[in-house]
Amino acid sequence: MKPLKIALAGLGTVGAGLVKLLTDNAGIITARAGRPLQVVAVSARDRNRDRGIVLGAEVAWYDDAVKMAEQAECDVIVEVIGGSEGIARHVVETALGRGLHVVTANKALLAHHGVALAATAEDKGVVLGFEAAVAGGIPIIKALKEGLAGNAISRVTGILNGTCNYILTTMRETGRDFADVLAEAQALGYAEADPSFDIDGVDAAHKLAILTSLAFATPVDFQSMHVEGIRHVSAVDIDFADKLGYRIKLLGIAQATDHGIEQRVHACMVPVAAPIATVDGVFNAVVAEGDFVGRSIYEGRGAGAGPTASAVAADIIDIARGNRSPAFGVPVAALVARPAASMERR
Ligand code: HSE
Repeated sequence: MKPLKIALAGLGTVGAGLVKLLTDNAGIITARAGRPLQVVAVSARDRNRDRGIVLGAEVAWYDDAVKMAEQAECDVIVEVIGGSEGIARHVVETALGRGLHVVTANKALLAHHGVALAATAEDKGVVLGFEAAVAGGIPIIKALKEGLAGNAISRVTGILNGTCNYILTTMRETGRDFADVLAEAQALGYAEADPSFDIDGVDAAHKLAILTSLAFATPVDFQSMHVEGIRHVSAVDIDFADKLGYRIKLLGIAQATDHGIEQRVHACMVPVAAPIATVDGVFNAVVAEGDFVGRSIYEGRGAGAGPTASAVAADIIDIARGNRSPAFGVPVAALVARPAASMERR
């Protein structure tokens, strides 16, 4: 069986997690993919850092990820560097331009350039997979693209940032202060390189913009999003909400209204009886409402090495199997722009 050759751009928390997953579960993955998955090249700046993984001597090492994207003899480039511009964007554009499949966990890149990248992937007849970009280990991209494909979706609601949910949960349970819990989330590998993306709601907004495109078959529209974070949420707010029978959650909400598609991210008071009220810690949850399926709920770890590697691996296995679905569920030409509904109009 011809192996699927993978070049891995980025060996941080997620990249190292992916190497471990592909090593530990090689047997079952080969059976499911129908062929072995083989890491043939990696790129990272620091060659000597101990990442707790073993790379075979046959794996080519590149200090420069772009050079790897230009030169590596492979079928798939996995991009887990992050950032909407700079190296990550260059790597993905170069790989697609060469006609290589791309798997990325990069929600910022997709929120800003997703449609253009999907168009290039389509032109080249390759896959742009990004299951890992939204809600960590929850297979929500697959759910919207495949499982719910027969439905008109009216609303998608989610806890989309593990760091914020971890902070809000830990503050409520322990009374510890915001900065202290944020530092812990960073140490656990949950937070973005720039954690203001987490706590100001930007990361959740990137993810929601991707879900909106998939749910409503519209081009990704990050600019129309209303975004608030959790910096202003105090221990007193959390305590009062608790006493009144609510939990404070940072939610992303995308819904079809009479005026168009509304997209917003902000802290919400969620009644404790609601299923997502008790989704705690680093867990994420997504609620999708479809006209035939009704309400369906997905929950799982939203950040960290294992869950994110799990989602990246799912995309790679799909490619190995020959699945070639369009990045946003429909061909780029079939994405229909719809007006952006503002919250103020309601
Ligand atoms: N910083 C992100 C989060 C990582 O906390 O959810 C996963 O996308």
